Amino acid sequence: MKILLIGNGGRENAIARKIHESKLFADTGSKLYVTQGNPGINEFAEPVNIHPTEINLLINFALKEKIDLTVVGPEIPLSLGIVNEFENKGLKIFGPTREASEIESSKVFSKKLMLENNIPTADYRSFSKDNLKEAKEFFNYCKYPIVIKADGLAAGKGVVIAGNAGEANETVIEFCESKIFGEAGVKFIAEEFLEGEEVSVFVITDGEEYKVLPFSQDHKKINDGDRGKNTGGMGAVAPVKKLMNEDLEKSIRTKIIEPVLKALKNSGRKFKGCLYCGLMISGNEPSVIEFNCRFGDPEAQAVLPLIESDFLGLLLAASSGNAIEFSKFSKFSELKNYDLKFNDSYSCCVVIVSGGYPDKFETGKEIKGLGNINDTGIESKAIVFHSGTKFSDDRTKILTAGGRVLS
Ligand code: AMP
Ligand code: GLY
Repeated sequence: MKILLIGNGGRENAIARKIHESKLFADTGSKLYVTQGNPGINEFAEPVNIHPTEINLLINFALKEKIDLTVVGPEIPLSLGIVNEFENKGLKIFGPTREASEIESSKVFSKKLMLENNIPTADYRSFSKDNLKEAKEFFNYCKYPIVIKADGLAAGKGVVIAGNAGEANETVIEFCESKIFGEAGVKFIAEEFLEGEEVSVFVITDGEEYKVLPFSQDHKKINDGDRGKNTGGMGAVAPVKKLMNEDLEKSIRTKIIEPVLKALKNSGRKFKGCLYCGLMISGNEPSVIEFNCRFGDPEAQAVLPLIESDFLGLLLAASSGNAIEFSKFSKFSELKNYDLKFNDSYSCCVVIVSGGYPDKFETGKEIKGLGNINDTGIESKAIVFHSGTKFSDDRTKILTAGGRVLS
């Protein structure tokens, strides 16, 4: 089987490793390609020099190489419609369509969907650049803190928790007038601040059936003690056993997962792929903070190593497209029949970032000692995933190439 992985960060390193260790991958003499990748991903996948957003070039490559399955890591190609375009050519692909991925790319859409379908979430109001005056009036009487979110994709930076009207006004002016987020931010929502404990839940779905992976917890603040600026994620643990009790799991399934999948399907936006539910748990009841249309980073690095059953089989079962005859893999052809199993370990993922991140940081620094990770005995199960790394031009060294470097 030939597989193409789209993306090149830590999450994609975890996906590549997991696909590579799949029995199905070995049994079918498979080959994995990746859009450029990085030194960590390239241990498992051959780089293809196409950017994740160059959809036409990716389609040409997939057709020419007869790719059996494409797996999309990041949200941007999904929101650009990579799945729609691949499906139009009859190519099998793991991920939601452009319309379904609006669950992440438009906060206004996802909040409206939740409201219309009684899915528990924070109360909110939506505003746009054209009714800033109303927003400012609202900020005079609303309860603080309040959470202000830019509407489009803003790489984890479009959320501000404002403590008073002054901060709220400053935030929306920045969102709208200086357009720091481009189109994201021209529309925004202001929502109630939720208290509780956050949990990330990955739901693998073909749009009808679904399987839930072990819960994880992301730690977003840059400093120890949950202080400082928000980042894309500084680390994650899984499973979050203290939040995995029968009643809560049932509420998450019946009040959130099932209604949202049904609502998406009924509105003609059937969701296939990984639905990421970012939840706040308060008094053993869940509320939705956000939905994402893909695996989280760094949660994927913590969660995927816990999967015992065949990961490639899981991705295949949840993928759309009809070009390929999967009869020889028939036991994986339906998600309904897929027996999802986990091992009973725990994982703790720590992200190593460049000094200065999430603001300005330097790149191009040599990374040494990567080969020693398992020398100390106790870490014999440690795994290093690469996010922002690259080879030096002469390929003798590994250099830093981003804010989040390793996990
Ligand atoms: P998001 O980009 O929507 O994941 O938001 C980033 C972070 O902001 C979340 O992980 C939460 O820690 C925090 N956050 C977002 N919305 C709320 C809310 N309504 N109440 C409390 N915290 C929130
Ligand atoms: N770690 C949060 C995210 O991937 O959105």
